[in-house]
Amino acid sequence: MNTVLVLMLFVVSAYQVHNTAGCDVSNGSWVYDDSYPLYNASSCSFILKAFDCVGNGRPDKDYLKYRWQPFECNLPTFNGTDILMRFKGKSIMFVGDSLSSNQWQSLACMVYTSITPQPNYTLFRQGELSTFAFPEYNVQLLFSRNPLLVDVVSTKVGRVLKLDSISLENQKLWNETSVVIFDTWHWWLHVGRKQPWDLIQVGNQTYEDMDRLVAYEKALNTWAKWVDSNVDLAKTKVFFQGVSPDHQNASDWTLNPKSEAMNCTAESEPLPAGSENPSAHPAEQVAEKVLRSMLKPASLLNVTTLSHLRKDGHPSVYGLGGSRGLDCTHWCLSGVPDTWNVLLYAALTES
Ligand SMILES: *[C@@H]1O[C@H](CO)[C@@H](O)[C@H](O)[C@H]1NC(C)=O
Ligand SMILES: *[C@@H]1O[C@H](CO)[C@@H](O)[C@H](O)[C@H]1NC(C)=O
Ligand SMILES: *[C@@H]1O[C@H](CO)[C@@H](O)[C@H](O)[C@H]1NC(C)=O
Ligand SMILES: *[C@@H]1O[C@H](CO)[C@@H](O)[C@H](O)[C@H]1NC(C)=O
Ligand SMILES: *[C@@H]1O[C@H](CO)[C@@H](O)[C@H](O)[C@H]1NC(C)=O
Ligand SMILES: *[C@@H]1O[C@H](CO)[C@@H](O)[C@H](O)[C@H]1NC(C)=O
Ligand SMILES: *[C@@H]1O[C@H](CO)[C@@H](O)[C@H](O)[C@H]1NC(C)=O
Ligand SMILES: *[C@@H]1O[C@H](CO)[C@@H](O)[C@H](O)[C@H]1NC(C)=O
Ligand SMILES: *[C@@H]1O[C@H](CO)[C@@H](O)[C@H](O)[C@H]1NC(C)=O
Repeated sequence: MNTVLVLMLFVVSAYQVHNTAGCDVSNGSWVYDDSYPLYNASSCSFILKAFDCVGNGRPDKDYLKYRWQPFECNLPTFNGTDILMRFKGKSIMFVGDSLSSNQWQSLACMVYTSITPQPNYTLFRQGELSTFAFPEYNVQLLFSRNPLLVDVVSTKVGRVLKLDSISLENQKLWNETSVVIFDTWHWWLHVGRKQPWDLIQVGNQTYEDMDRLVAYEKALNTWAKWVDSNVDLAKTKVFFQGVSPDHQNASDWTLNPKSEAMNCTAESEPLPAGSENPSAHPAEQVAEKVLRSMLKPASLLNVTTLSHLRKDGHPSVYGLGGSRGLDCTHWCLSGVPDTWNVLLYAALTES
């Protein structure tokens, strides 16, 4: 009985990324730092236009200058050479939606620009898998586009979202990687033309639709069970990228009824610490619950709160712009995902 209790307590406290001193690196504030940004995005021609805000003409520049400062400790200085040395012959893979791609591109540019002379790289895409490789170092940074993590299968009756199934192909891919950072959330909300399935299946039951948070939780449980029964922690480190908040609706962050802001357009500075939403995002709560239940808990990259403060960090009209409109969901590069990668770096190097 006691052993079970102790074990449960251990699991509860083990899953969020803390540094070795037990400091909560996600609790802090954004401070203006003249040495920022960590890189000049124009040095990384591979950065997608959607994220290249400076290149797309964003006029204000202060948003590039903020460094995340935890209250009770300092984050390590990111060292790309160190990453390449540690992961020689290995790979780091982001699995998820376009926010994973946002973080993957950020990491590639952080590593690439931190080495002088600039190293050679190759970048190729095969199906849904993009591989950024440093041939001289034999290190690969990958992005596997997979916004739901579970399978969508085409059948006679349409596209079926199978909440309890992960393809063998994906299982092999995940199993062969040294570090995997998973992310899924935004696609669970899609309806109409953007919804990539027609029916939902659980076991032998099919449904026209269901509560999306419930479906999300079932899929995450499938993923968690897979990690628990397949991952060899000595070979593979597993992270879960917390929910990335958007700033579509200013009522989510401004309490000032006279404020004219409606969305992230024209936002040019972060919110001060303490402006967090008092209640966690419902999807974040689901993800936390599933992570807590895991036998081999994936480490949570707790990016939700710190990103919530960055209403100024989105491309707004300086993403794809034009008819694609306003983007208050993704993040400019350089920008907020660089900090997600500093947290990842801290977690990978401090243990
Ligand atoms: C964050 O740190 C401050 C200052 O150390 C502390 O007062 C506060 O309780 C912490 N917040 C959380 C959520 O841990
Ligand atoms: C994430 O960090 C914030 C800020 O410290 C904290 O309030 C929140 O509880 C953390 N989430 C989890 C799941 O630990
Ligand atoms: C980034 O590089 C471009 C092209 O080399 C240059 O024009 C620009 O001034 C640089 N920006 C910063 C902030 O150094
Ligand atoms: C970065 O890491 C490399 C390899 O571990 C090390 O030789 C170098 O001194 C580090 N650079 C800094 C600035 O700490
Ligand atoms: C890049 O590749 C070229 C051609 O293979 C090679 O000559 C050069 O030394 C490489 N550069 C670095 C920095 O390794
Ligand atoms: C993943 O690797 C573990 C051992 O490292 C093995 O037990 C498991 O069967 C593998 N799963 C797949 C789908 O390859
Ligand atoms: C699902 O269907 C298969 C084959 O029709 C059957 O063998 C199995 O028992 C069913 N499972 C459940 C949970 O009903
Ligand atoms: C923004 O949120 C508020 C409060 O939830 C709601 O009344 C309003 O309709 C929302 N605006 C848009 C454009 O969705
Ligand atoms: C975004 O907010 C600005 C004002 O802050 C407003 O002019 C614009 O119409 C809004 N765009 C959308 C798509 O709601």
